[in-house]
Amino acid sequence: MREVPVHIGFIMDGNGRWAKKRLLPRTAGHLAGLKALKKVALGCIEEGVGYITLYCFSTENWKRPKDEVDYLMGLFSEKLMGEMPFFNEHGIRLLALGDMSVLPPEARAALMAAIEATEDNTAITAQLAINYGGQSEICQAVERAVAQGITKFTPEVIRAHFDNPEVPPCDVIARSAGERRLSNFLLFDSAYAEFMFYDKLWPDWCEDDVRTVIDEYNTRVRRFGGLA
Ligand code: IPE
Ligand code: IPE
Ligand code: MG
Repeated sequence: MREVPVHIGFIMDGNGRWAKKRLLPRTAGHLAGLKALKKVALGCIEEGVGYITLYCFSTENWKRPKDEVDYLMGLFSEKLMGEMPFFNEHGIRLLALGDMSVLPPEARAALMAAIEATEDNTAITAQLAINYGGQSEICQAVERAVAQGITKFTPEVIRAHFDNPEVPPCDVIARSAGERRLSNFLLFDSAYAEFMFYDKLWPDWCEDDVRTVIDEYNTRVRRFGGLA
């Protein structure tokens, strides 16, 4: 029987290279990346994936030129709200993952509004990882636990203090655009994830690429340290 992963994490990489190939500004690649994200989300819904995590902006991406950072923040504030009919039509529940406190107020407000407006949707849950870093996520969880007087740590205790502890660990991490690294994505929850790397640039992704990921998933034997 064909197994469908419960949770797929996508490292949406290659927007800049996609634009460069077309002699367009990098920002055009990010806009095209948003269109691809919508197709991939639909593909995941069609396949019955329960959760997706979309790596939108890392804690390290602040190092980029201000213009590019500003454009991305603008995408999170303006375009996100513009996509509300899409999210609601397709039953997509949005969650934020990462430290929203340092985002421009408009971006933060748009995200919070989007989360609230989609909270009753049930087709799929999409975590938007914005100002997200796996190292910070772990540090922040420890800080939250310590603030509650916790001194005994287990993986479960740390996880319980994540932003959305109800979201199960990812089964798959799929990265576009050829790089074979995590770039600080889901360090804790990737413990037993299946890693998949594809050369295709993110803006070229569509529904069919979700099927490619799930087909690949079905060739993997997961043992979780036990025996198959
Ligand atoms: C991924 O595409 C999107 C973000 C990191 C925001 P890139 O912008 O990293 O594209 P490349 O890797 O430069 O092609
Ligand atoms: C990872 O891509 C971050 C996102 C996709 C949002 P990067 O392009 O920032 O990663 P590196 O710099 O190639 O490792
Ligand atoms: Mg990149």
